[in-house]
Amino acid sequence: MPSLCYFLLTIVGMILGNYCQYGESAISSLGVNWGSLASHPMEPEIVIQMLKDNGINKVKLFDADSWTVDAFAGTGIEVIVGIPNDQLDKIAHKSIYAEHWVKENITQHLQDNVNIKYIAVGNEAFLTSYNGSFTQVTYPAMVNIQKALEKAGHADKVKVTTPMNADVYESSSNKPSDGKFRDDIFDEVKNIVSFLNDNNSPFMVNIYPFLSLYQVAGFPQNFAYFDDNAQPISDKNVQYSNVFDANFDTLIHALKKLGFPDLGILVGEVGWPTDGDETGNAIPSNAQRFYKGLMKKMANKKGTPLRNGPIDMYLFSLFDEDIKSIAPGNFERHWGIFQYDGRPKFQVDFSGEGKDKWPVGAKGVKYQDRQWCVLKSSSEEWDEIDLKDILGYACKNADCTSLGANCSCMNLDLQGRVSYAFNQYFQTRDQEDEACDFKGMATIVKQDPSKGTCMFPIEIVWNISDGVKLKAVNYLGGLIVSFLFMFITLARS
Ligand SMILES: *[C@@H]1O[C@H](CO)[C@@H](O)[C@H](O)[C@H]1NC(C)=O
Ligand SMILES: *[C@@H]1O[C@H](CO)[C@@H](O)[C@H](O)[C@H]1NC(C)=O
Ligand SMILES: *[C@@H]1O[C@H](CO)[C@@H](O)[C@H](O)[C@H]1NC(C)=O
Ligand SMILES: *[C@@H]1O[C@H](CO)[C@@H](O)[C@H](O)[C@H]1NC(C)=O
Repeated sequence: MPSLCYFLLTIVGMILGNYCQYGESAISSLGVNWGSLASHPMEPEIVIQMLKDNGINKVKLFDADSWTVDAFAGTGIEVIVGIPNDQLDKIAHKSIYAEHWVKENITQHLQDNVNIKYIAVGNEAFLTSYNGSFTQVTYPAMVNIQKALEKAGHADKVKVTTPMNADVYESSSNKPSDGKFRDDIFDEVKNIVSFLNDNNSPFMVNIYPFLSLYQVAGFPQNFAYFDDNAQPISDKNVQYSNVFDANFDTLIHALKKLGFPDLGILVGEVGWPTDGDETGNAIPSNAQRFYKGLMKKMANKKGTPLRNGPIDMYLFSLFDEDIKSIAPGNFERHWGIFQYDGRPKFQVDFSGEGKDKWPVGAKGVKYQDRQWCVLKSSSEEWDEIDLKDILGYACKNADCTSLGANCSCMNLDLQGRVSYAFNQYFQTRDQEDEACDFKGMATIVKQDPSKGTCMFPIEIVWNISDGVKLKAVNYLGGLIVSFLFMFITLARS
């Protein structure tokens, strides 16, 4: 209702300003990642309205799920679609697969007026923890997708790139000027860089100051943020006051050594998690501090010491994802600026004006019944060993990452922890009665058991499509889970 808001504003003045949200626009170089590794994914229509309400005009996806991509038709929002790593091999070896992929996942959507800008071929395929599994296939897959795009006549509109983790480059001295690409992937990266240059595509890199703090003991706290409180580090004649700039410029030096100092660079992921970190840095107030500095940096378009001007950046991430792999750490499930259900966690002003304001949350989200599953209260009866066993079982099959040291639910006693785990299990399984039994130890309650910072969530209603359900089974793993899902499917059919 922009006109009504405007009318009220002119008459009554600024006091009413807060009630009138007429899609203020975000910084133009700002985009967001929308990952789908949630047991209960948000509906595309709700997410798109939320993006519009926050003025966000760019989104990065990790696959090309057609229900999601098609929801962007006619919105004008710029979309990056992804090809997951497990599809690279096929596409690298047979150009016909690349052509099929483009036909089904690009041509069709362009015809429906989806504004697809980039294809991210693979995701952090050169990560050292993948042991080189995707090293040989990434570049050939990019080439085949590019050829397929050219053949279909989309090569001017849609560009091909691949998101790289910042561990593809390194510096022996830790100074940006010694930056170079890792030896084990050097030839592949060289091919990719020259491919990007030939096709006028940007190098996409993911940069995480949080991980510097998490992984490097004694890393100076202030250097992870952007508020100029850090002791600057000097590299030749250049001063660095935050690790983001230093990291980004390390990449520039690495590119320079390959002969491409001016290649476009796009930051595919940057963000800060809010839970799941035993060192205590992943908390909402730190995320707020990080994003506040980042928004200011993006708004003033200064770039880094070696790269002036605005840099396109995609924030990671929109929502918490409760079935994301926690191999790198429990914080992996807590990257959301918004919670799993689209409620904002902290203040951030996407417009870059630096106001203390909350982002606009998701509207029209449907929740399951207002009920929770907890340990029966006859506390003395429970043997400590039994409780620990059952806790382990529930947590193997649901997300318990908030129970860790220095996390939001760390203050619960053993019985409270068991209750938390029971509820996570129960909610993940759509509040099925069978999921709140645990050998008769569990019971359903109507009063919210949340305590302090520890939130006992109620899951949202999700549209069970077979694809999503399969994904949930894969990620949660375990025979019992598969059995439960089979049971649910049978019961519903
Ligand atoms: C299109 O993308 C989807 C989602 O990523 C994928 O499952 C499908 O296999 C792709 N289509 C083709 C023909 O490769
Ligand atoms: C990489 O190697 C390590 C150690 O050999 C192994 O534990 C891990 O599962 C491997 N990862 C992949 C993705 O193959
Ligand atoms: C929890 O966080 C605080 C503050 O960051 C830190 O001093 C403490 O060592 C952390 N506890 C553990 C178990 O790491
Ligand atoms: C559920 O998902 C399907 C696609 O998987 C879609 O066609 C349908 O409209 C959705 N239903 C609701 C109620 O959103």
